[in-house]
Amino acid sequence: FQPKVLAGKRILITAGPTFEPIDPVRGITNLSSGKMGYAVARAAREAGAEVMLVSGPVALPAPFGVQRINVQSAQQMYDAVMSNVDHQHIFIAVAAVADWRIANASEQKLKKNPDGTAPVFKFEQNPDILATVAARTNLAGHPYCVGFAAESENLVQFGADKREKKGIPLLVGNIGHHTFGQDDNTIILFDENGHTILPRADKLTLARQLISEISKRISQHSLF
Ligand code: C5P
Repeated sequence: FQPKVLAGKRILITAGPTFEPIDPVRGITNLSSGKMGYAVARAAREAGAEVMLVSGPVALPAPFGVQRINVQSAQQMYDAVMSNVDHQHIFIAVAAVADWRIANASEQKLKKNPDGTAPVFKFEQNPDILATVAARTNLAGHPYCVGFAAESENLVQFGADKREKKGIPLLVGNIGHHTFGQDDNTIILFDENGHTILPRADKLTLARQLISEISKRISQHSLF
């Protein structure tokens, strides 16, 4: 039984990878399974929140009672978040969003060239969803923002820096870069007072602890 620490709160969560098309049947993605984001969505719902989950392509069922919006690309994830962020109390960006998309994606399936030359792709940067939401000054759209970071080295310094760079009150660092697809994780929370480690546990246990930490912090945050 989980205490209803988020009763009456609306939460928007992103989860999973994004898929950036090359042509109608091919694309670039990453190894995010969506497990952590889905665990956070489930824990938020258990805590009494109204949860909306914007999800990239994953092989997981929507947690009970959670409204899911399915997207593929980072641009679609950005659009879905921006059109639903108004009046949310909390935004948690767990998704592993592709930093780049292919600028010259083809409308038709690409064919091999008879002369053996390979196609050349140009990349352009995707919008940063979390930084955009965090920077909004719109009164209806200023939720308490939480980000995730997966750094392979120097996490304590990079985590603190990333929290400041993104302009968010709470950043969750994954310790080690082997979290993708795993059931367990070790996380470290960065806020304005420093950092706290949540020791290795399954992702649902950590998600419940994270929701409890967020609920303690939002009482000091002006939500709108
Ligand atoms: O900058 P970096 O990608 O390491 O930051 C990770 C955090 O930012 C995660 O919370 C991720 O969901 C979010 N993010 C985002 N939009 C992007 C890139 C990252 O929301 N385009």
